[in-house]
Amino acid sequence: MAILENKVVLITGGISGIGLATADLFHSEGAIVHAVDLNSPSEGSLPPHLVSPRFFTHQADVTQRDQLDAVVASITAQHPLIDVLICNAGISGAASEVATYPAEVFARVLEVHVMGTFNTVQATLPFIPDQSSIIITSSVTGLVGPPKVSAYATAKHAQVGFMKSLAAELAPRGIRVNTVNPGPVNNGFQNDIEERMTGLDASQANASFNELIPLGRHAEMDEIAQAMLFLAGPHSKMITSTTFRVDGGMAG
Ligand SMILES: NC(=O)c1ccc[n+]([C@@H]2O[C@H](COP(=O)([O-])OP(=O)(O)OC[C@H]3O[C@@H](n4cnc5c(N)ncnc54)[C@H](O)[C@@H]3O)[C@@H](O)[C@H]2O)c1
Repeated sequence: MAILENKVVLITGGISGIGLATADLFHSEGAIVHAVDLNSPSEGSLPPHLVSPRFFTHQADVTQRDQLDAVVASITAQHPLIDVLICNAGISGAASEVATYPAEVFARVLEVHVMGTFNTVQATLPFIPDQSSIIITSSVTGLVGPPKVSAYATAKHAQVGFMKSLAAELAPRGIRVNTVNPGPVNNGFQNDIEERMTGLDASQANASFNELIPLGRHAEMDEIAQAMLFLAGPHSKMITSTTFRVDGGMAG
């Protein structure tokens, strides 16, 4: 039997990058996947096999609680319980030292990652059954603090603190809460911030980041999705309050 047969999954940031790779893997493992995103999928951006009665997309900004409530109401009208919640929506923000970091960008990065995670958890909690799994996509930057990404580092560290507090609250119900902490991933989100941080072109920036990773390369999106699957499924049922690193050793 598939690992997530008929499990209902809500994933934010679910129509691109790591979120889409995770949605795709979970769907292949039998899950009913609801991908919630600020944007709607553009023509041809989803793999054809996700035109499926077990895959749904919903538009909502995770910083807007009323939009999340409306999406959760429409999901739970169809599927009353949410078995796996993944708070994954994110933005990178500016690549700038603190002295010149634009305050409005700093605030938005915190709003999306920190308030967005809080909003998503609070909106879905009444529908999350005992023994389920909540996963938050933090980052290696939730464990270390590189220069020029102070807002992102602040937000990603905050998600770890939030995860630990929530894990303690929900453990009596057998609900597990963990972060996945990816290192640099081979995708557009990471290419963009690497180029802006280093001022180099994509391949040079990529090579310079590879030197910071003991395993010498970026992660593939499917490698992050596999970590999500492990934390969502039954093989991790003794694991909660963990920062699950998929960073090639980068955090040391
Ligand atoms: N790419 C990496 O190297 C890397 C490394 C560590 C952690 N992360 C984290 O992984 C997560 C996914 O990033 P990704 O690499 O797949 O990037 P991505 O840009 O492909 O995906 C992010 C998704 O979040 C959505 N989103 C942004 N703001 C939103 C909002 N306010 N409401 C709803 N949806 C919103 C975007 O539309 C997008 O679909 C993010 O939380 C990111 O911080 C990424």
